[in-house]
Amino acid sequence: MLHRPRRNRKSEPIRRMVQETRVETDNLIYPLFLTEGSGLQVPIKSMPGIFRLSPDAALREIEECLALGLKVFAPFPHIEDSLKDKFASESWREDNLYLRTIRLIKERFPEAVLITDVAMDPYSSDGHDGLVENGEIINDATLEILAKMAIAQAQAGSDILGPSDMMDGRVQYIREMLDNQGFTNVSIMSYTAKYASAFYGPFRDALDSAPRSGDKKTYQMDPANAREALLEATLDAAEGADFLMVKPALAYLDIIRLLKDNFDLPIAAYNVSGEYAMIKAAAANGWIDGERAMKECLLSIRRAGATAILTYFAKEFARLQANK
Ligand code: PBG
Repeated sequence: MLHRPRRNRKSEPIRRMVQETRVETDNLIYPLFLTEGSGLQVPIKSMPGIFRLSPDAALREIEECLALGLKVFAPFPHIEDSLKDKFASESWREDNLYLRTIRLIKERFPEAVLITDVAMDPYSSDGHDGLVENGEIINDATLEILAKMAIAQAQAGSDILGPSDMMDGRVQYIREMLDNQGFTNVSIMSYTAKYASAFYGPFRDALDSAPRSGDKKTYQMDPANAREALLEATLDAAEGADFLMVKPALAYLDIIRLLKDNFDLPIAAYNVSGEYAMIKAAAANGWIDGERAMKECLLSIRRAGATAILTYFAKEFARLQANK
């Protein structure tokens, strides 16, 4: 035999030497769930190890993460039903939970990077990402609302805006609005190829944000489509996005690769709540080794072409790296 590929696997140092892909804590973004109150750390049943945090608890969590070398956070707000309305008007009220906490975090930890969520669903009494009229999601009227949220978040100190709504034209609309108001340094990480997925269930438990009627199929993408992701990416790139995101990650590794091969912008992937829950549930039952499964999944997302990964495993991974 002239070729024995096993020779390159014969010892740990050689295996490490030829390793093509690595995951570093630097690649990870940690989503956080915020809730009103103080001293609160409310467990989310479908996401073991993840909590809704009151602002003070979020500060403590961020302090711990920074000490582990984890520096990028994606907060999402859990909003009481009584504050939700058709127009998500709570979302741009200057002293709301979200904006207040963003300011608090950036004051205490200017080195923490915040990617903030631009979409109506946490604040919408309809539980949709856009404005609903007669059962229909109205694209262009939603853009105005998203832009108000975007400006309010930029004013609060957000580093990167993450429009997660999938309305047409929102990246350019938000970019122009930001630039007009002098926020030329605020970036946009666009949720470019966001699919209508069953894997968002636990997130909607966390935020209590499930659609009150219908589904999200008129704006989130059909899981059957890959070419459509290219179209979305072409538009987002032309509209001024700084990052292109694919979501979910694990069932869409081909889409991550497709965007990586066709675009020069950094690719992010969202390892979503349902993907986290599956591993946690199987591990809790003793059916898989949770730690190894986590590492393998994160590695696969990087191998597929993602530069950055939003993942609920971020802190757990960072702790393992820090203690190595
Ligand atoms: C919607 C949004 C979703 C997630 C974050 N923002 C999906 C949805 O509810 O449709 C899901 C994230 C996850 O599942 O971890 N703006």
